[in-house]
Parts: sequence; structure tokens; C-alpha cells
Amino acid sequence: MKKLCCTALVFLLLISMAACQKVEQTPDAPVESEQRKQEDKESEAGVSGADEKAALSEKEDDTLKREFNFETKTVMLNSGYEMPINGIGTYSLQDETCVDAVSEALRRGVRLIDTAYMYHNEESVGQAVRESGIPREEIFVITKLYPNQFSDASAAIEEALQKLDISYIDMMLLHHPGSGDVEAYHAMEKAAEEGKIRSIGLSNWYVEELESFLPQVNITPALVQNEIHPYYQENDVIPYIQDLGIVVQGWYPLGGRGHTAELLGDEVISEIARAHGKSSAQVILRWNLQKGVVVIPGSSNPDHIQENTELYDFELTEEEMEQINSLDRNEKHDWY
Ligand SMILES: NC(=O)c1ccc[n+]([C@@H]2O[C@H](COP(=O)([O-])OP(=O)(O)OC[C@H]3O[C@@H](n4cnc5c(N)ncnc54)[C@H](OP(=O)(O)O)[C@@H]3O)[C@@H](O)[C@H]2O)c1
Repeated sequence: MKKLCCTALVFLLLISMAACQKVEQTPDAPVESEQRKQEDKESEAGVSGADEKAALSEKEDDTLKREFNFETKTVMLNSGYEMPINGIGTYSLQDETCVDAVSEALRRGVRLIDTAYMYHNEESVGQAVRESGIPREEIFVITKLYPNQFSDASAAIEEALQKLDISYIDMMLLHHPGSGDVEAYHAMEKAAEEGKIRSIGLSNWYVEELESFLPQVNITPALVQNEIHPYYQENDVIPYIQDLGIVVQGWYPLGGRGHTAELLGDEVISEIARAHGKSSAQVILRWNLQKGVVVIPGSSNPDHIQENTELYDFELTEEEMEQINSLDRNEKHDWY
């Protein structure tokens, strides 16, 4: 009898332990069954987790898009050099005005400067860089060959090196398509191999022009610089270029001289600016950065130069980005 009681007690104990275990498992059970359902679905579709991961990493390899680093405020170019994502443009800035503007920008932390043979100010840009006292390798200078230089591009490259007088050129672009552009690009490729230029690229090349140009060159451009602002957005061109692993830079980010008032006074942009306690210019520049477009606003006004650097302490919402995207009018403010 005593033995029978003991057996019954052990039996009861085992049943209650099993019940407890079941209760403890309950919260996880649905997850497990969801997981199983998902696994079943995947195996039905013939896609395992590993397959999915492999497909994803293949996709990542296909997408060469160069992401902006908002901590360092730079982007890694396909040439292996790092370029700041905000800078100063020097179109129409001459002599002392140019030296002062670039010096002011450098003092305020700007490290990217855009010039060109056509701006007649490479000497002034070089002077500001040399006099800044900032280590050369911390500054990134872009210059451009104009089509009237394409027929003797090697000599034009030497001329730019001499005028800038800053040891090497960080980036040289062809200013816009023209007769002899492929040969001029080959001359830039040679100068890049010789270490005279670190990265090379194009300006005012769009999808059609790139499709015919790229198969004729050996080094993929690191950068394409085109007109981009809220009234001329190039929404079809930008992703095309970025998917090739080429960084996009926008000129006339504020619409260009003579057009800035309308753009900066735009009600949609002004409203967004008010919401963030920022200026319209800062909102437009930030909109560019969030689209992965490098900005080089031109200015000789120290307050504007400072303002144009303060782009990293706020973020536009998806809705605000969409609101600005909807302002596109396909309205070009220059001919090329
Ligand atoms: N590759 C090409 O074909 C090409 C063509 C054109 C230009 N670009 C490059 O792109 C750069 C930018 O273009 P851009 O300079 O002609 O035009 P932009 O940057 O669109 O506008 C410059 C104008 O905006 C004003 N501005 C600048 N910052 C401002 C701010 N925070 N608030 C209010 N106004 C402000 C400037 O006046 P203040 O001086 O008074 O600040 C100037 O009048 C050029 O400098 C050049 O380097 C390249």
C-alpha cells in the first residue's frame, strides 16, 4: 500500500512538472510557430535563409552607390580618396574677393573648393590654400578643363598645376562635353597615373552622354558635377550616376546668381526652414546632402559661408524631402 502511494505521488509530481513546463514555454510558442511557418514558406518558395543572405549581398555588390558619412562629413570616392561633402564654389569670385572668400571658408572649416580654368581664379584659390597654414592633404581642390583646352589637354593640365601651385590637383573635371573630350580625358588618366591629379571626373554629362562616353575611357569618373537645385532636380540622372559608383555634385545649389531670391523665398522651403529654425539656404543644402548630392554653394559673404557649413545639426523628414521633391519644374538656369 505504501509502495502504491509513493508511485501515485511520483506520477502526480511528473504530471504537474510537465504542465509547468508547458506554461513556461507558452510566451515563446507563437514565435516558434511563426518562425516555422516562415521557414515552411521559404522552403516552399525554394529560398532558405542562407540563400536570401547570399542574394542580398549580391545585390549590395551590384549597388555601388557611395554613401555619405555624416560624422566625418565626407564620401569615399571610387579613386580611393576621401572628399568632403560640403564645400565652396568660386564661380565669379575674382582676385582679392576670391582669396578672401576661400580663406574665410577655410577658417570656418570648409575643406572642399571648386574652381575652373574658366573662372580665371585658379591662382587666387591656390594662394588662399597655401596661405591657410592648413596641411595640404586636408584640403580638396577641384578644377576643370574647358573645351577650348581639350586639343592640348596635357599642356592645360600643366598650366592648372602651375597656376594653383599646390603640388597636386585633388580632382580635375572636363567642364562640359566638346570636341576632343575623350582624348582630353585620356590625358587626365595619364596625369592621374603620374600622381599629378588624384581623381578625375566630368561636369555637365547626363545619361545619354555618359552612355556613349564611358565605354571609351579606362578610369571610371569619380565625380559628375551637374546643375541641381529644387527647380531643376535631375531625379532620373542622379540615381543613374550614383548606381555606377560615381559621386554626384550639384552646381547652382541655390539656383545661381540672379535666381537665388525666388528659390530662397519659396513658400514651401521657407516653411520647412521655419520649422527647423534654419535658413532656406541650409534647407536646400541639407536636401541635397540627404539625396547623396555634394554641395558647393558660392559665396563671398562670411555670414553665408558660415551658414552654409551648419548643415549637420538637423534632418529633413521624408515628408519634407517629398515636399521639396515636388517643386521640380525642370527649369534649367544655365545652358549646359
Ligand atoms: N560645372 C559647371 O558647369 C558649373 C556651373 C556653374 C557653377 N559651378 C560651380 O558651382 C558653384 C555654385 O554655383 P554659384 O556660386 O554660381 O551659385 P549658387 O551657389 O547657387 O548661388 C550663389 C549665390 O547665392 C548667394 N548665397 C550663398 N550662400 C547663401 C546663403 N546662405 N544665404 C543667402 N544667399 C547665399 C551668394 O551670394 P553671397 O556671395 O552674398 O553669399 C550668391 O549670390 C560655383 O561657384 C561653381 O564653383 C559649376
